[in-house]
Amino acid sequence: MLVSGSGSNLQALIDTPDLGAEIRVVVADRPGIKALDRAQQAGIPTTVLPWEEYGSRSQFSSAVADVVDDAGANVMVLAGFMRILATEAINRFPNRILNIHPSLLPAFPGANAVAQALAHGVKVTGVTIHLVDEKVDHGPIIAQRAVPVLPDDDVAALHARIQVQEHDLYPRVVRAFVSGEIDVVDRDLAWR
Ligand code: GRF
Repeated sequence: MLVSGSGSNLQALIDTPDLGAEIRVVVADRPGIKALDRAQQAGIPTTVLPWEEYGSRSQFSSAVADVVDDAGANVMVLAGFMRILATEAINRFPNRILNIHPSLLPAFPGANAVAQALAHGVKVTGVTIHLVDEKVDHGPIIAQRAVPVLPDDDVAALHARIQVQEHDLYPRVVRAFVSGEIDVVDRDLAWR
């Protein structure tokens, strides 16, 4: 799993007993984040690859892919990971990189999805889980869940309700993905 922040989605996966997968390593682009504490608490190996120590996105991405490979993992699960992976990493894990995003993509990609949804005045937003490609918050969509925007919502309140759905949906999708229930053929997704 690749993380940069609080790691509540990591925690949801850790807490899913029948996930059908083992989290081999948690990779972070910065030290001192809560996600690393959560991993350590669960006895999962962690690796910090400080972004600023790499000369380019390509070098950073290759280092990430090396760590994941060395851990014997064959799927990357991103949750709150704040770096864009370069082709070097994506090509080494073709159709094997998942990401979760707090909006109904293609609406509101990027870092401030919840604030953007509020500012735009949408009445419904939600969660998207998708395969990662070279563009930000862009690859084929695997699953989505809608979350209504309530009249008094601020960013924190709305994001908290979105996260309740994230923590339920991500483990379901990861379980289906690793068990082969979701097939990817030429960027098309098929649920068996
Ligand atoms: C989630 O809302 C996710 O959709 C977005 O970043 C947040 C990460 O939360 N990409 P956490 O670190 O899993 O708590």
